[in-house]
Amino acid sequence: MTRGGGGIALIPTSPEQPRNRDSHYPYRADSYFQYLTGFTEPEAVLVIVVGRGDTAPQSILFCREKNMEREIWDGFRHGPDGARDAFGFDAAHAIGELDAKLAELLADRSVLWFSIGQDAGWDNRIAAALNRVRAESRSGKHAPAIIRDVRAELDAMRLVKDATELDIMRRVATISTGAHSRAMRFVAPGRFEYEVEAELLHEFRRQGCEFPAYTSIVAGGPNACVLHYVGNDQILRDGDLLLIDAGGELNGYASDITRSFPVNGRFSGPQADVYSLVLDAQAAAIAAVRPGATFADPHEAALKVLAQGMIDLKLLSGTLDAAIESESYKRFYMHRTSHWLGKDVHDAGEYKAGENWAPLAPGMVLTIEPGCYIRPADDVPKAFWNIGVRIEDDAVVTADGCEIITDAAPKKIADIEALMRDGRGG
Ligand code: GLY
Ligand code: MN
Ligand code: MN
Repeated sequence: MTRGGGGIALIPTSPEQPRNRDSHYPYRADSYFQYLTGFTEPEAVLVIVVGRGDTAPQSILFCREKNMEREIWDGFRHGPDGARDAFGFDAAHAIGELDAKLAELLADRSVLWFSIGQDAGWDNRIAAALNRVRAESRSGKHAPAIIRDVRAELDAMRLVKDATELDIMRRVATISTGAHSRAMRFVAPGRFEYEVEAELLHEFRRQGCEFPAYTSIVAGGPNACVLHYVGNDQILRDGDLLLIDAGGELNGYASDITRSFPVNGRFSGPQADVYSLVLDAQAAAIAAVRPGATFADPHEAALKVLAQGMIDLKLLSGTLDAAIESESYKRFYMHRTSHWLGKDVHDAGEYKAGENWAPLAPGMVLTIEPGCYIRPADDVPKAFWNIGVRIEDDAVVTADGCEIITDAAPKKIADIEALMRDGRGG
């Protein structure tokens, strides 16, 4: 039997991460915590309590206290009262009071919701608080009998974005398309990959992004065939392609865009062949995004186009059905076509509902990112060696299809060539 009533959820934010002596990595609040609060200071915990007979649901923040000395060195802190008023919590307390208050908050609640196993320190702290409640059993107090992982509930909430979230995602998408266009205008033979990365970061930051949403991939020539290439330290060569996978993060929401284009501004014949194939695959995948379709449908649509194209280009032999069945296309296309996008670049949310792929619904946001990566090999036509192409856009599922929020970054061959020509003034 479950004793007590209602429940309690504890959602801590991320810890600060030391980089080396006296220096930290740039701080970024935990995605679940910021999703629920909008509060971005470190050392904070959200407690949500529901029911216990006599109490209304409450949101309670524990955060750093005001501290003039620390604020002179490190900057403004809201403090509990300021945070409560600015963010609309029902109550707020100093983080130093958490342990003392935790046993009282936990007592006589039926269910504890918590990110079990996410952080060993928090696991221990909460276990200790539960033990303190149990130690008071002779005074009639009961610890929650059920502990659930709060992430399952929050993942389902985060999967479908509301109008405010979509508005932010459109804005960060637009900023990020501007960064890709800037890179296209800048690129020329002899520039280094890191110079292009600097252009991207400059554009993200000058438009208000807090961070890049992930480490930018700026991959010239053969580096494009390394899927997670982040060295970004090689020279760009005339005749090579450049693959850029980069997006900004704004108000805690990510953008995720890839464009592939020629360093010298003109696609060669073989480059155009592979590029056109990937673009056609992307169009087929985008056409498959609509409510009622499943998460896997865009991938399957892209695969059919890619595998047939690989056969036509003599990268593969045999029939389309055989290529799909044997997965021989995986030699040149080894990743999936989509992932959820939101606060995290690979966002929260289940990909399967039981045995079946998740059905798409309005407000979900996913990437559409087919590619083709051709490493040198004796059985591969030499004209295609070291061509790596990915084209990635961000799609919001709408009532009758999808909205591509990253369309402003050029991707038709003629549009890329025109921008690169005009950007160089000739
Ligand atoms: N930028 C990471 C990805 O495309 O999944
Ligand atoms: Mn992606
Ligand atoms: Mn990407």
